[in-house]
Amino acid sequence: MTAVPALELEKIGMEFGRTVRVRALSEVSLSIAPGEVCALTGPTGSGKSTLLAIMGTLERPSAGRVRVEGVDVATARDRTLARLRAQRIGFVFQTFQLHPRLSALGNVEQGLAYSAVSPSERRERAVAALADVGLADRAEHLPTQLSGGEQQRVAIARALAKEPSILLADEPTGNLDQAAAEMVVDLLLEGAGRQRALVLVTHNDALAGRLPRVVRLERGRLVADGSNAAA
Ligand SMILES: Nc1ncnc2c1ncn2[C@@H]1O[C@H](COP(=O)(O)OP(=O)(O)O)[C@@H](O)[C@H]1O
Ligand SMILES: [Mg+2]
Repeated sequence: MTAVPALELEKIGMEFGRTVRVRALSEVSLSIAPGEVCALTGPTGSGKSTLLAIMGTLERPSAGRVRVEGVDVATARDRTLARLRAQRIGFVFQTFQLHPRLSALGNVEQGLAYSAVSPSERRERAVAALADVGLADRAEHLPTQLSGGEQQRVAIARALAKEPSILLADEPTGNLDQAAAEMVVDLLLEGAGRQRALVLVTHNDALAGRLPRVVRLERGRLVADGSNAAA
């Protein structure tokens, strides 16, 4: 028996705009197995962020079918989609998206606000997740009191504290210097090592080369999907 894929995309199309139509994606088909680690590459404007948002059920495609852990996104109830986003999918964005008024610990806890987790367990998990990314001693710091690399590590802790089965990261190292970027990628790969699928969007070829599978988009089309012998 083969396992249900973590993500299954069938002929995904996406158009934006009513008067002037922008075709962001055309006929993208892709399947990602549970625990599979994959880089999503391509030039700016090729549709990477749009595809990632569709994988995370943040956007609905104009055409095609999306299944997340076997759940058909088009026909699922809102409640089911909300549960997927709250408990099964962890997001990490280029601009960190931390709440500016909450401490590092508060941000990680807030990430669990919609999980079926009691407040005391929320606190416990958040403390552990911050320790996992090496920020135990920064728990009470506000985002402005942290470096970019540290802010992204808080965002990773927030995503991992959910114990998601799918991690989606959109150019998570785009705003970071080399050393911070490497740490962030190490943490994402480590997080993915615990039976989590990871889709990492990057236009950095050296970074993509560290991952076992590389999918490439150009002008909204999937133009390459290969395994990386070196990874
Ligand atoms: N909300 C939107 N409204 C209109 N056009 C959009 C929107 N989001 C993305 N696009 C367009 O879709 C294309 C793909 O964008 P995007 O997915 O952000 O690419 P990438 O992440 O690879 O840089 C671009 O032409 C972009 O301008
Ligand atoms: Mg993008």
